[in-house]
Amino acid sequence: MISILRRRPKPGTPRRITLRILRHNPADPASTPHQQDFLVDEAEGMTLFIALNEIRATQDPSLQFDFVCRAGICGSCAMLINGRPSLACRTLTQDLGDVITLAPLPFFELIGDLSVNTGKWMRGTSERLQTWVHNDAPVDLDALEAPMAPADAEAIYELDRCIECGCCVAGCGTAQMRERFVGAIGLNKIARFRIDPRDTRSDEDFYELVGDDDGVFGCMSLLGCHDVCPKQLPLQTQIAFLRRKLAIVGLRGD
Ligand code: SF4
Ligand code: F3S
Ligand code: FES
Repeated sequence: MISILRRRPKPGTPRRITLRILRHNPADPASTPHQQDFLVDEAEGMTLFIALNEIRATQDPSLQFDFVCRAGICGSCAMLINGRPSLACRTLTQDLGDVITLAPLPFFELIGDLSVNTGKWMRGTSERLQTWVHNDAPVDLDALEAPMAPADAEAIYELDRCIECGCCVAGCGTAQMRERFVGAIGLNKIARFRIDPRDTRSDEDFYELVGDDDGVFGCMSLLGCHDVCPKQLPLQTQIAFLRRKLAIVGLRGD
């Protein structure tokens, strides 16, 4: 009883939290992956972004992690927070326990500590899936752009909210087993260009890109992607719809 009372902070005393961080620098041959604890006095409204910055400023300047916007827009701060892929800049320490474990997103190339190279994978996947508008019409620089139906624009906007954070790939069991799997983000991008009226590609063209086990038929509906997406994109619906449409193309081709 006495020991419990001793651990309880006095009123007005900040809670002391432990950030247990997986450290590793792959560029240093002497480095081995290990966990390191850092103690931080919690401030009101503290996010993991603030806590990590405080550690880097006052305890260990070598700690590596990424942040750009601090507002859930750039996607660079995704990491495993207590084992779950999430955005560190949008996570309040008050919503977590006294000990918080942090690790880099799996699947992506590790730069160091909590920093991973999602950009390299995103760029490679975008090139592979040709995620830009393909239009066969001759270019007329003087012509006005054709207006788009508001419903189409809204549907595209909804899928364009993806911030390329990589949480869906890190939370997908298939991606951990199959290196070339395009993940929910890749399938979401295909779904986005498929509904874009400016894109003249056919379902047969999209089938060429993702009509295999590295694409829509490799997805085992594990739905981790849907659960962890910080933008709450309708990934489950999009993948199921795309699978149905491309399965018809596959059956036609048999
Ligand atoms: Fe992140 Fe969601 Fe985009 Fe995946 S689909 S990269 S989880 S925003
Ligand atoms: Fe992976 Fe999501 Fe499919 S978690 S297996 S892409 S439903
Ligand atoms: Fe940009 Fe977190 S820092 S999303």
